[in-house]
Amino acid sequence: MTLRLASAGESHGPALVAIVTGLPAGLVLDSAAIDADLARRQEGYGRSPRQRIEQDRVEVMAGLRHGRTLGTPLALVVRNRDHENWAWGMSPWPPEGEAHGKGTKPVTLPRPGHADLAGIQKFGHEDVRDALERASARHTAVHVAAGAVAKALLGELGIAVRGAALEEDELRARIDEARKDRDTVGGVVEVRATGVPPGLGSYATKEDRLDARLAASVMGIQAVKGVEIGDGFALAALRGSEAHDEIGADRRRTSNRAGGIEAGVSNGEEIVVRAAMKPLPTLMRPLRSVDLATGEPADALVERSDVAAVEALAVVAEAAIAWELAAAAKEKFGGDAIGDLVAAHRAYCERIRWR
Ligand SMILES: Cc1cc2nc3c(=O)[nH]c(=O)nc-3n(C[C@H](O)[C@H](O)[C@H](O)COP(=O)(O)O)c2cc1C
Repeated sequence: MTLRLASAGESHGPALVAIVTGLPAGLVLDSAAIDADLARRQEGYGRSPRQRIEQDRVEVMAGLRHGRTLGTPLALVVRNRDHENWAWGMSPWPPEGEAHGKGTKPVTLPRPGHADLAGIQKFGHEDVRDALERASARHTAVHVAAGAVAKALLGELGIAVRGAALEEDELRARIDEARKDRDTVGGVVEVRATGVPPGLGSYATKEDRLDARLAASVMGIQAVKGVEIGDGFALAALRGSEAHDEIGADRRRTSNRAGGIEAGVSNGEEIVVRAAMKPLPTLMRPLRSVDLATGEPADALVERSDVAAVEALAVVAEAAIAWELAAAAKEKFGGDAIGDLVAAHRAYCERIRWR
């Protein structure tokens, strides 16, 4: 069975939900490891006070017994603690009684760079909140939880995935400057995966290409505007003799400019993916926009917001890469029980004499 992930949840709704299907049975999960990744997503320089309200924890509603997967759909929930402040404004059902708390007043001031204007046009909403609640990156929390599950599966195969912000000191200085100016910044993150055997992904179709799958998954994260694999954009300026990774007698490479993927297939070297994040669109000193209620020029919505979320993106991108690698590994090695998957992986690595 293919590994699949579906998620639901609004930023200030009751909870975020993910359903994972296709996991083998017998995989040991550790709630502390999942919660540790949730905490890493919430930390990071430049984030808003909302992160102090949330303190995310995973709850498992199905698919797990005594810490082992059952081979059935795994249902993950991360509750939005902030929902209690929005209980009327974000009630799933028509709310009863007097309007109270947050979200009671319609938002009519779309922010440039966010989903606000296109979202209401596309779906026919009148309150911008109906668009921004799902467009928000809040639901990346449950994707990080699913990524932690994927990392548990990859761990059984000796594969580790780690993301980090690049040039962290310089980034933090830029964040301090931007905070003073009531502005926002973006940055670059890098995810590295070690222990990936040659042969994940395929050149057979573009949908099978591992590079395409990793790039789509990372580009699918809010505010990511560029993705590169290995030396990526820099390769365009090089000659072929400088750009490719020579093959040694042991079939290993002497360099890794390709970032561990050639022809859409992992080549056994470390997988390296970088993503560029744009500056966050919610500004404390807002850009010009239009008031949709009056049609008059106005300042865009100002709402509690991060100055930067680059370090958080590193954790979200790590989860996205882990997820895609786990899905590709599951496709290649199969198995309804984790032991079957591990045995198939071992037999394959022996056949190609890898490691
Ligand atoms: C982890 C993370 C946290 C984010 N936090 C904020 C935020 O606090 N304020 C904001 O305006 N945008 C934030 N964003 C970015 C917006 O969600 C994103 O820019 C918006 O949904 C529009 O999508 P696009 O940038 O992909 O075009 C965050 C993104 C990520 C990945």
